[in-house]
Amino acid sequence: MTPIDTSGLVHSFRLPISTIRRHFDIELDGTWSFALVPHEGALDDAQWGEVQAPSLWTMSRPDDRPHYTNVPMPFDEVPPVIPATNPIGVYRRTVTIERGGKRAILHIGSAEGHLRVYVNGAFAGTSGDSHLAAEFDITEWVVEGANDIELRVAKWSSASYLEDQDQFWHAGLSRSLGIFLLPETRLSDVVVIADLDPGTGRGSLAVRARVDALAGSEDPRHEIVVTFLGETHSAEIARRVAAPTLPPPSRDRSVKPQQRFPDDMMDLLSINAAGGDIPPELRAIPNAAAFAVGRPSEPAGTAHIALGDLRVDAWSAERPALYDVRVELRTVDGVVVDAATYRVGFRRVEIAGRDLLVNGVRVLIQGVNRHDLDPATGRVISVNRMRQELSLLKRANVNAIRTSHYPNDPAFLDLCDEYGFYVVDEADIEGHAFASTIANDPRYLTEIVDRVARMVQRDRNHASVILWSLGNETGYGAAHDAAAAWVRHAEPSRPVHYEGAISTDWHGGRAATDIVCPMYPSFAALEAFSRDAAVDRPLILCEYAYSQGNGTGGLAEYWRLFETMPGLQGGFIWEFTDHALDPEGDGRLRYAGDFGDHDFNVATPLNGIVAADLAPKAAYFEMRGVFSPVRVTSFDAASGRVTLRNRQAFADTSGLALEVRVEGEDGMLANVPIDVVPIVAGATATVALPDAALRATRDPRAIAVTVRVALAEDTAWGAAGTELALESEPLDRTPRPLPAPVGAPALDASGDIADALLVAPPRLSLWRALTDHDMAFALDNRFVRSGFFRLDLDDAFVETRENGVTVELRYVSAFGDIVRHTRRIGIVGERDYVFDEHIELPEGTQDGLRVGVELALVPGFEDASWVGLGPWENYPDRRASAVLARHTLPIHEMADPQLRPQETGTRGGVTELVLTGSAGRALIRSEVPLHASALRHSVEQLESASHSWDLPASDLTHVHLDVAHRGLGTGLLGPDTRVEHRPTGSVYRWSWRLTLES
Ligand code: GAL
Repeated sequence: MTPIDTSGLVHSFRLPISTIRRHFDIELDGTWSFALVPHEGALDDAQWGEVQAPSLWTMSRPDDRPHYTNVPMPFDEVPPVIPATNPIGVYRRTVTIERGGKRAILHIGSAEGHLRVYVNGAFAGTSGDSHLAAEFDITEWVVEGANDIELRVAKWSSASYLEDQDQFWHAGLSRSLGIFLLPETRLSDVVVIADLDPGTGRGSLAVRARVDALAGSEDPRHEIVVTFLGETHSAEIARRVAAPTLPPPSRDRSVKPQQRFPDDMMDLLSINAAGGDIPPELRAIPNAAAFAVGRPSEPAGTAHIALGDLRVDAWSAERPALYDVRVELRTVDGVVVDAATYRVGFRRVEIAGRDLLVNGVRVLIQGVNRHDLDPATGRVISVNRMRQELSLLKRANVNAIRTSHYPNDPAFLDLCDEYGFYVVDEADIEGHAFASTIANDPRYLTEIVDRVARMVQRDRNHASVILWSLGNETGYGAAHDAAAAWVRHAEPSRPVHYEGAISTDWHGGRAATDIVCPMYPSFAALEAFSRDAAVDRPLILCEYAYSQGNGTGGLAEYWRLFETMPGLQGGFIWEFTDHALDPEGDGRLRYAGDFGDHDFNVATPLNGIVAADLAPKAAYFEMRGVFSPVRVTSFDAASGRVTLRNRQAFADTSGLALEVRVEGEDGMLANVPIDVVPIVAGATATVALPDAALRATRDPRAIAVTVRVALAEDTAWGAAGTELALESEPLDRTPRPLPAPVGAPALDASGDIADALLVAPPRLSLWRALTDHDMAFALDNRFVRSGFFRLDLDDAFVETRENGVTVELRYVSAFGDIVRHTRRIGIVGERDYVFDEHIELPEGTQDGLRVGVELALVPGFEDASWVGLGPWENYPDRRASAVLARHTLPIHEMADPQLRPQETGTRGGVTELVLTGSAGRALIRSEVPLHASALRHSVEQLESASHSWDLPASDLTHVHLDVAHRGLGTGLLGPDTRVEHRPTGSVYRWSWRLTLES
């Protein structure tokens, strides 16, 4: 029998990873010769071409395209068997290397797949941990001058079973590569612990440096010099000390031997270890106590420097103060032989009961999950894109990122340190397809522990990292406990996080997680857990507020709980960007299934709060509002006093510019800065509206007051004035009644009005283009079962009276149920109609999508203007951020950027909608606030297209006016919209007015 190839689980010649970051002496990014072969045997006949590194061949090769799977592996084998079909990308390059006596270290930032390295034809090492760098000392195989370097990246290895994340499978080189030329004696690793005592506010800095080349030296003659705040501090490298052995008793009886040990030395050792009192008779012996508590000396080849009582600013996501630390390795003669620099932040992360504290303060985790994804390059992420992404998140008040589900480029963590984010650093471990077994499979034990340990060893000096995550969706097994134990011993300054340990029991899994970090829980589960007095760990959701398609419903409800209930501390929204790619570069984003990868088993992972090209969706703005640094907690229109709460944990409001706007039916009535003494973190303050604003609120046209929160000063991620949130407070206004009809319109036999501007007259509509959540498994086809997607007019009875026509319409739904629509249509002027609507749904109807009317306008309408909630689309359970005002937008911008078309563009609270353009004007008014949309496409068109770019060009305007519209929920993965946000009635009545002008 052929032995099983476990490449991926063993890594020949790979060097240990460390915190040290160096500049390449020889850059290897750029052009490489490249061949993609179906297996190694095909190498002789390979077709060679060129590629740029870093890049993923799956983004450019027609013969191996991106392949999406969620849970299953994309092949049938089982761990650790490598599939027989295993494409191999071979990269070759001739590199001039002049070592000058130094060691040549090859660094591969990230090889997606299994990497094998050859130098001048000689095998130089392997690695299989796709999202951490692999380094090899290739000195032995290097010659002075030209060297042939070959990298073979096999798409699959036995480690692929640990990289089964819900995303596209790719292969290639996704991060930079190069060669370092380093002295034999150099820094091997430097651990910098920058701690902050929340009690005193003082910092301490502990630097521990390791020089492996000196570990065997009895006279290292080198020292470590740390420069911090302009001062230098040094410590010698500890020398090798012979391993302790018991000295033999002296056989020399010519002299009296000295007493070398206290009596009862062995007892003293164990009494000390047991923490017992040292008996007085032993204490009497000189040095006995000192002997018993003797500490081991520094390990050979290391040096340790500790600085205390430092006057430093604390680091937090709100105020990310960073300090430079330079660590040099010098000879005793003062020659600097190696150096490393760090930007450190002083802060302490700890758990106190049910709270995770940063610098002694409970911080609410306003987080998102983030994957490496750039539609143009797959998982190759430029620093520029990182900055764009992080700026976008900061501008939406996000303070935390989970690096779902693998370690990111170290440059990303640099930026998180600098911009201020709390990071859950996650190991590249997802064994989803074999989650029930793989973490207990001894063949995977060392690789699982190693992946966690390597991440920790690389990232431990980053201030931003506050939790270590053992990976995602790999069940729960012995390997997790082992990995957690390693972390807790080696790097105890951050708690451990692993969802698999608590997924079936929030009270369990203590060996592998310090945080209760479930995904997608119901509101009731959170409330019950918060009330449970037995709970003694913080709860932070690792994933929630599922943002697939048009989703993220209920975000504000989650936050009502986080902000009011003990022990619930926020979480990470799933997720930041859609998984969509544009390998052709034609601007048409593609998703799972578009690459011939039809074996995916769930809905397409288009679950970002922003699109793959970073275009914000309405969910992004809702998140921004819910995470606002300042909340209006009460507003008293009569006295003109507004109470503001600073939601930040550390910063006062001096970094924010606050402004009050008074919104009127016809536009903004006042816009005045609020001068407020900085409100300290967590505090509230009541301020009087400035006079101009107060006067404006008394204008009969005034409808709401908005507090605008913006940046007061320029930051790395936004210029002064950048808007961070809008808080809207409606004013109490009596609805304006519709005029009484003065006559009856002419109708056709079906009871419809006719007008040159209408291509479809106003008719009943009960259906929306199903969202991904509307199609949730748990909803069990609820809406399709209603049959409301088709309503056939079965009977129409029209009766004209003096000041109106009564129309009785009977519809039959797709499955035979009867819907009755009775309306009275009157006219109040020329082409000016008032509709009194009365809808009776089939008996027993308890849930629906919408109840309203739809109409369509001829080409020639360009702009929408409405009095209602906006400016972005909003739904009953995703409107916390929406502002009541007069809004205007071009009609073609009313739809949200959903790549897979579905319900979009609805705005609630609408009492007036005006559509204008060269064709004329359509004015819609309602006494009760409606849910309205005006889009280029009909429900049918949205439902039949699979990409936004498949939708036909359209210059019509499809208008929906709903008296009831269902919330969005997150039913596909998480709680459905709450009952109060569902149209649960079976009888609806309302009135509205339509005025048409050409
Ligand atoms: C979670 C998982 C994520 C993603 C999400 C669904 O269970 O951790 O990686 O698959 O579900 O989109």
